[in-house]
Amino acid sequence: MNKAKRDVVIAGNWKMNKSPAEAKELITALKPLVADADCKVVICVPYTDLFVAVEETKGTNIKVGAENCHWEKSGAFTGEIAPQWLKEMGVEYCVIGHSERRQYFGETDKTVNLRTKAALEAGLKPIVCVGELKEERLADKTHEVLDTQMAGGFDGITAEQMADIIIAYEPVWAIGTGLTATDEQANEACAYIRSIIAAKYGQAVADAAVIQYGGSMNDANAAGLLAQTDVDGGLIGGASLVADKFAKVVAAAK
Ligand code: PGA
Repeated sequence: MNKAKRDVVIAGNWKMNKSPAEAKELITALKPLVADADCKVVICVPYTDLFVAVEETKGTNIKVGAENCHWEKSGAFTGEIAPQWLKEMGVEYCVIGHSERRQYFGETDKTVNLRTKAALEAGLKPIVCVGELKEERLADKTHEVLDTQMAGGFDGITAEQMADIIIAYEPVWAIGTGLTATDEQANEACAYIRSIIAAKYGQAVADAAVIQYGGSMNDANAAGLLAQTDVDGGLIGGASLVADKFAKVVAAAK
């Protein structure tokens, strides 16, 4: 299957930005700008913005995602949110294993795996993030890191479940730094991830897998990155917080 047959998914990752009132304002501005998108458009927002995001995007082409979920259905896990509650409120996607969660909140490949399975079981589409640190790239360890993260994060995930998962290749050195991977670096890493999927699940599953690039993708560099044969979309942080910029990234996904 060639790229043209895969979904292109442009997802905003708002991180810890935007109050509910600000979320309403941003979504109101965004709706008309992306109404004619040729790709899937998703906004992943803080838990406290989910209600307003689901309400404001009803009847539009914008889908809503959370930025994390827990792996249990309920219980003594103060501060955590169960994936089936997200599903119940109309949330369709969930970012899992973002590097900021790995870096600041103790996320590991094991917890990424637990969250991914729980999200799938709840009927959410996980956006699973992988990617190397700057020192790992400099030491030529990018493939090794991706091998480890994919092996741990996807342990026990079936070929059928792979159809509901999006993978976001996010080199940590490119996130929020303005240092984007070159088109070639992004494509090479996404192609490598696809080869890992092929080795584990077979070529057909790999060919159908949606693999995004994320890390300082914006209105200026999106077209080049999205034109790459193995880059099937983007996970956009900073540029997703400005309606006009995010809409330009969406427009670049032709
Ligand atoms: P950035 O963030 O676009 O601000 O670099 C991307 C991400 O962290 O998903």
